Amino acid sequence: MKTESVVQNIPFVGRKRSLIENARKERASGSSCPGPSRGGENFVFEEKEGTVTLNILFALSHEKNAGFFKTGKVFETFEAKLLNIESRPGRKSKNSGCDDLEIFMRCEVHSSDTDIFINSLKRVADDVRTIPEEKVPWFPRKIRDLDKCNLLITKYDPDMDQDHPGFSDPEYRKRRRFIAELAANYKQGEPLPRVEYTPEEVATWREVYRTLRTIYPDVQTCGYGEDSIPQLRKVSAFLKEKTGFQLRPVAGLLSARDFLASLAFRVFQCTQYIRHASAPMHSPEPDCCHELLGHIPMLADKEFAQFSQEIGLATLGASDEDIERLSTLYWFTVEFGLCKQNGTVKAYGAGLLSSYGELIYALSNEPEYKPFNPEETAIQPYQDQTFQPVYFVSESFEDAKIKMRRYSSSIQRPFSVRYDPFTCSLEVLDQPSKIQHALGQMRDDLKILHSALEKLG
Ligand SMILES: [Fe+2]
Repeated sequence: MKTESVVQNIPFVGRKRSLIENARKERASGSSCPGPSRGGENFVFEEKEGTVTLNILFALSHEKNAGFFKTGKVFETFEAKLLNIESRPGRKSKNSGCDDLEIFMRCEVHSSDTDIFINSLKRVADDVRTIPEEKVPWFPRKIRDLDKCNLLITKYDPDMDQDHPGFSDPEYRKRRRFIAELAANYKQGEPLPRVEYTPEEVATWREVYRTLRTIYPDVQTCGYGEDSIPQLRKVSAFLKEKTGFQLRPVAGLLSARDFLASLAFRVFQCTQYIRHASAPMHSPEPDCCHELLGHIPMLADKEFAQFSQEIGLATLGASDEDIERLSTLYWFTVEFGLCKQNGTVKAYGAGLLSSYGELIYALSNEPEYKPFNPEETAIQPYQDQTFQPVYFVSESFEDAKIKMRRYSSSIQRPFSVRYDPFTCSLEVLDQPSKIQHALGQMRDDLKILHSALEKLG
């Protein structure tokens, strides 16, 4: 239910960092590869680092029989791994009357050697061509692969953003860099770094905590207090017990693709530094107040945790266009979502729960409400200069999850993924045998449920 109070004089402070903008820029710059193949069988999973898969065609004329062996030498020199080789009659040599051979090779080479490898082949064979192939963008398969999900967007940090409240405070910048470095050096599985917060930092936390507590008392849900900034290690252990989510320290605002991929593993990339003391109610970048007071209480809810993981799973290997749409869905749900509870509209988005002004505004009569519908929500223009003119209301997290799952299945990917909580890894269901194995596991689970029902009579 909307409150009757007309929202007046609640200023919007600053500008909000947005995953959507990041995703849009990544797409525009083409920093990622072209997107998943729609072909079904010939898609290639791109390696993030190390090797690249090449499809090469070249011709060997009758006079260049020795060329075949020379190409072998090139492969040996560059340690290229041959994956497939085929030959067929090529164009007829005008002079010799003998058939040429056209050779197709599929191989893996070190990424840094690609150009020189192809140039070397051109010296020993004719008409060397690479066949462009659409690729599935790299995505983490194991939880430790999250060490590679570290592409930071630095434009809102205090060293780069002149509008950042800490821009002209060298001490603050130094401190933020120190805490960010703890995150940058972190490797999956290590104990989460502990930060000894200064009295000034605790005072900032206290002010934010007290202000938000006046509008929603649930802020104390996670056992927080106003006298200390919770340590990530403790909060992560709390979450793990509640919903299986865990935290990982992050040095700043991540790229949309890397941030959302972590959710697939029930990992939330969480900043540890705090906003500048001069602006306790605003931070242009994520900080521990936003994460701890906005995101963590929601991630402790089982249905919401599942919903968050669903978004993460949908992003794996998705095209840049789909990442932008999924970032928009994330924006209007996890950050600025509203949800009905016993007939009353309540805020659950972290951007609302950690922002006094926008929370009051969102629950007033001012903005427009629309029912959450992923197809529509994914293309809704977002607002980062002021409050959102439109908020999307879910019937329940369960309903949002079902709709999200339906939307995810419409995303064009030549495979499906399944999270294995035992090994904290992702299984790519791209072969019938893998699907059969997954079905077998489900049958075993169903037997347990069947037996439980029988025992209940
Ligand atoms: Fe957030």
